[in-house]
Amino acid sequence: IYKACLFDLDGVLVDTASYHYQAWKQLAHRFNFDLSLEQNEELKGISRVESLERILQWANYQANSELKEIWLREKNEAYLNLISQMNPGEILPGVLDFLGQLKELGFLIALGSASKNAEIILQKTGLLPWFDAIIDGNVVTTSKPNPEVFLKGAEALDCSANECIVFEDAQAGIEAAKAAGMKVIGIDTHQTLKGADKIIPTFSGVDAQSLLQFK
Ligand code: G6P
Ligand code: MG
Repeated sequence: IYKACLFDLDGVLVDTASYHYQAWKQLAHRFNFDLSLEQNEELKGISRVESLERILQWANYQANSELKEIWLREKNEAYLNLISQMNPGEILPGVLDFLGQLKELGFLIALGSASKNAEIILQKTGLLPWFDAIIDGNVVTTSKPNPEVFLKGAEALDCSANECIVFEDAQAGIEAAKAAGMKVIGIDTHQTLKGADKIIPTFSGVDAQSLLQFK
């Protein structure tokens, strides 16, 4: 009954979290705030605009919208600079093999990411040809945990929600998938995610057929 797999990008297919962290940390120094690794965890799956809002809140810093625009641009320029050297070597372990298994089993594959830079990353890592549809931060108007990104993915693939399985590494993404009425598999090395139907630490050595079976 399952026809499609919807993948989050950052932390699921590639590890860009450290690049986001570096870029935000550098930006936050503008208002004398030192972003911690734990705080960065809470920014996973959250849009750029909302991430800045949260950081400013943690820093207890008020900025007008003009300044926020400048900072958002600055953060993204630093991030683009960091990801400019990305290559297929940065695809997470087991991902390519897993995508190959999905194709053989006849699954449709879509991206469901909050990032506006998703396509550049897919291009640089050579992942782009695997996808039947791409729903990213340029297409959605709401941030996860809103289900919009995954509902649009299902729609693009001409599938209903209960035919879709989502792969997510962020709590906001797990909640978005559940709110969409989909099965969700958490990618979680630290066992901190709540509410996923299944959890795997990585895609390494994973057999797609048995993973995609639900009681
Ligand atoms: C993903 C990441 C977030 C990031 C968001 C927007 O969801 O997990 O950390 O803030 O994308 O990314 P962008 O590339 O548009 O700044
Ligand atoms: Mg993610």
